[in-house]
Amino acid sequence: MFRDYDPEKDKEAVLRIWREVGWIEEGKDRLAEVLARFISCGRALVAEIDGAAECLVNTAPATMRYLDQDLAFSAVLGVTTSRIARKQGLASRLAALAVGQDAAAGAQLAGLGIFEQGFYNQLGFGSGGYEYWFAFDPARLRVDVKARVPRRLTTDDWAAAHAARLARLRGHGSLNVFPAVVTEADMVWTDDGFGLGYYDGPAGELTHYLWCKAKGQSGPYSVRWASFQTREQFLELMALLRNLGDQIRLVWVQEPPGVQLQDLIEQPFKQRQISKRSDYESTVHVSAYWQVRMCDLAGCLERTHLPGDAVRFNLALTDPIERFLDDDAPWRGLAGDYVVTLGPSSGAEPGTGAGLPTLTASVGAFTRMWLGARPATGLAMTDDLAGPQELLEALDWALRLPDPKLDWEI
Ligand SMILES: CC(C)(COP(=O)(O)OP(=O)(O)OC[C@H]1O[C@@H](n2cnc3c(N)ncnc32)[C@H](O)[C@@H]1OP(=O)(O)O)[C@@H](O)C(=O)NCCC(=O)NCCS
Repeated sequence: MFRDYDPEKDKEAVLRIWREVGWIEEGKDRLAEVLARFISCGRALVAEIDGAAECLVNTAPATMRYLDQDLAFSAVLGVTTSRIARKQGLASRLAALAVGQDAAAGAQLAGLGIFEQGFYNQLGFGSGGYEYWFAFDPARLRVDVKARVPRRLTTDDWAAAHAARLARLRGHGSLNVFPAVVTEADMVWTDDGFGLGYYDGPAGELTHYLWCKAKGQSGPYSVRWASFQTREQFLELMALLRNLGDQIRLVWVQEPPGVQLQDLIEQPFKQRQISKRSDYESTVHVSAYWQVRMCDLAGCLERTHLPGDAVRFNLALTDPIERFLDDDAPWRGLAGDYVVTLGPSSGAEPGTGAGLPTLTASVGAFTRMWLGARPATGLAMTDDLAGPQELLEALDWALRLPDPKLDWEI
């Protein structure tokens, strides 16, 4: 019933699923062609009913940056069940199987974008940090540089766009998803998509660009993503956006890692007030839309180098994913007792240490703490994480990390 996706046999059935869930609209033949390749770019599993694929889960190899280290990451790109197969437990079991197979093959972390909170928590995922989307009048951008004349990018430039994305300036929590078809699909998926960029690399490579969604004569436009390698390149892209402001009334921009976008907007409160409830309302939307979970505790901690004194404790870890996996599966989650050290040199060993304080946590809550999505004392109030107050405070101090940002929508 659960098996690998077979492009020859399953292509039409999985495209039917994606049409049924609204991911592909009728008549979008190029999108269907790109998505067929997108599905095959990593691991793809299907669940069959009466000989046809009715549920699909696909993942792609990626890395996540943790401070200055890159960790192997399974990017779960799609979890979809057809209209006839809902609520049979297919999506949750197939997603668990895909994560388990990626974990057994070496993924240290897995992550995904969520359709709602709760569903993936059942598989041990925990919410990442907040992401901010600003809507503002581009004419109100305060940038004192002049943008040079850019070059146009179209969906045919996916290879250069992908290479530039991989080479962009990266911060804590950022993803690089490796198959180029992922960027191609993101570009083709953008209705009325267009790009503007600069080819400043030593051999004329694309260095910085905006990939945007247009709308009509006045907007709103949305910047689907921005790639840049330096501060100067970022400011040039913002200046480029400002240049559209004679015509375009509003743009949506996701706040880039480390930047406080409001700094660059003139009179943001006045703009918000006077545009309230209009078609071009200046506003900010916030949500924690992505989730992540550790798949290899020892592997993640081996790459964790924190400044300051080490904290050592017992960890009693629970992992809800195991109930979706077979008893003889090669990877069955991370539930167990460990002795954990977090500091300049970190690690996790199975067992319990006499005299050490104990932290009790679900894998999702522990991953959130480790990544810096929220501190231990806060997670102890809202998530499945508990321990003596002194230990929680020591963990808050040890894990003073930058706000994690994927900087790559999955
Ligand atoms: C989301 C989706 C994949 C679920 O598929 P499915 O095969 O019906 O899912 P399952 O049968 O494995 O799980 C459904 C169970 O999860 C539960 N569930 C759903 N949303 C939940 C949530 N937010 N929190 C907790 N539980 C949730 C359901 O109540 C159901 O439980 P029940 O059977 O006890 O009633 C399907 O609805 C779909 O394809 N949606 C459109 C595409 C999409 O948004 N995909 C997700 C991309 S991130």
